[in-house]
Amino acid sequence: SHELKTPMAIIQAHAEALSEGAFHDEVMGPKFVDALLRNSERLNTIVSSMLELAHLESGTYDLFLSMYEIEPLIENSIELFQDTDFEHSYQITIDVEKDLKAYIDVQAFSHIVHNFVENAIKYTSRKGIIRVKGKQTDDGVRVSVEDNGPGIESKYFSRIFERFFRIDKGRARDEGGTGLGLSIVRNMADAMGAQVGVCNSELGGAEFWCLFPNVH
Ligand SMILES: Nc1ncnc2c1ncn2[C@@H]1O[C@H](COP(=O)(O)OP(=O)(O)O)[C@@H](O)[C@H]1O
Ligand SMILES: [Mg+2]
Repeated sequence: SHELKTPMAIIQAHAEALSEGAFHDEVMGPKFVDALLRNSERLNTIVSSMLELAHLESGTYDLFLSMYEIEPLIENSIELFQDTDFEHSYQITIDVEKDLKAYIDVQAFSHIVHNFVENAIKYTSRKGIIRVKGKQTDDGVRVSVEDNGPGIESKYFSRIFERFFRIDKGRARDEGGTGLGLSIVRNMADAMGAQVGVCNSELGGAEFWCLFPNVH
């Protein structure tokens, strides 16, 4: 994929420059080494995500589906975000119906929630309000993550789950984005027989949801 070529070309160019003498340049030396590091990290992120996607698409991804209470799982998947220094700049609330259970794989479910919340934080720059909801509907158990960020234009609602799709490539790249997060999410949901989608949130930003079918 050409997504791999950019960081690879940058690594190659900087390594060459270093070996051709920049290594001894007090100013450029450290800069080039820094660029090497940043781009190899980026390459690493992309390759790991691509491998995960390939694993999912191969159909050999192991799932253990059962009925689980979801509120504790949601709490665990966002624990990490509540520990960070950024806490002052956003607020996450959880609003899940009491004792709500869904037919899920714990790891895949947690991954989806984690990813939605990570995006909500990432794309909601200041004073973020993030709400995770869970409720029983006629169609199944609906889990959603809403934010008060910039939201998503409706013309992108389905494209957003395509691999490597990002609305603002430059910005997403600065944030370390690969555009693979949501395609992994969609594949995991598929594997569980769940649906995913996005709509406008009453909070002003985006609302990403996942619907787990009722099992009887
Ligand atoms: N909560 C959100 N608010 C606004 N835009 C979002 C949100 N979540 C995802 N996006 C958009 O969807 C794109 C794809 O998301 P994702 O697959 O997770 O890739 P990335 O690695 O860029 O985060 C993002 O680049 C961003 O443009
Ligand atoms: Mg993401």
